[in-house]
Amino acid sequence: MTELTGPCISAMSAPVMTISEAKHVAIVGATGAVGQEMLDCLDERNFPISELTLLASARSAGKEILFRGSLIKVKELTHDSFEGVDIALFSAGGDLSLEYAPSAAAAGAVVIDNSSAFRMDDQVPLVVPEVNPEAIKNRPKGIIANPNCTTIITLMALSPLHKLYGLRSIIASSYQAVSGSGAQGIIELDEQIKVLGAGGEITEDMKKVYPHQIASNVIPHVDAFTENGYTKEELKMLNESRKILNLPDLRVTCTCVRVPVHRSHSVSVTAQFERPVDVAEARAVYANCPGVDAKDDPENSLYPVPLDTTKKDNCLVGRIRKDMVFDNALALWVVGDQVRKGAALNAVQIAELV
Ligand code: A2P
Repeated sequence: MTELTGPCISAMSAPVMTISEAKHVAIVGATGAVGQEMLDCLDERNFPISELTLLASARSAGKEILFRGSLIKVKELTHDSFEGVDIALFSAGGDLSLEYAPSAAAAGAVVIDNSSAFRMDDQVPLVVPEVNPEAIKNRPKGIIANPNCTTIITLMALSPLHKLYGLRSIIASSYQAVSGSGAQGIIELDEQIKVLGAGGEITEDMKKVYPHQIASNVIPHVDAFTENGYTKEELKMLNESRKILNLPDLRVTCTCVRVPVHRSHSVSVTAQFERPVDVAEARAVYANCPGVDAKDDPENSLYPVPLDTTKKDNCLVGRIRKDMVFDNALALWVVGDQVRKGAALNAVQIAELV
């Protein structure tokens, strides 16, 4: 039996703070779904804040947001927004990150960017705190990238197993919630459910976010298609997993699917390893891993479902079994809240390490 504390011994528990000084924190995209979740995570984890700057578009300037008993006015994002800021959490899309993150870094802030803009930049660490916390030290541009949500959730399950058995390849299919498309994805699903419930039909004008009806349907299309037939989301799983795990030869094939679920992504994974696997040992390893738990008693219908992790910090792993096609391989099912661990919480955990 492998020593079970081994695989996760260096991982962080939650909350993990060793911060001595309170920080001036800025949130770019503070009015958005992830920005709001970042505020919740900062508050819940008692992140020490001396000053909070909330930034969004001109449309939101002047709006007030309640944080720890104070109403804070949202300001319009400009290149001069970052004077005195220690940590800038960006979640307003890749174009704005490309334009404004260098200004924030030049003003002395450590940027933690939730977009894909800098993820594959060699000079920008890509960090899941439970997996590769050491990577944050080397950040020559003053920018740290938050990985893709589906990748974070998948690696929360696979990283402990990689430490035990040595990961070689991943075959995955994702079941991604509509909140991954922002507030509009939720609105589109809810409107279609309402129409179908009333016996109506979905018309073309009700399909704004997705190319097909999402209610009562699944759509094997997340993000734009690329030349090789995979979507950008699917290639993020390949490229980001390689970078985070520091496994340049890791083989990954993936199909990302949008499902009519409000929140929490699920991923069906077959992972092949260098060394022989043991199901009981694999299941037991999660007892000692911060941020991920096993829920795996199928005979009693106990396995993770998206509602289990909604608004929760931890990812859940279940259906752990020996794969019947590949040697040294496990099949498993992992679920996690993609707004929280897949985005806001992961960013706040990185801020705790800075
Ligand atoms: P706003 O609410 O003012 O549009 P979501 O992904 O949930 O839609 O959130 C996007 C976030 O990015 C929001 O906070 C949004 O602010 C912000 N945002 C969008 N466009 C801009 C912009 N031009 N400048 C600053 N923030 C922006």
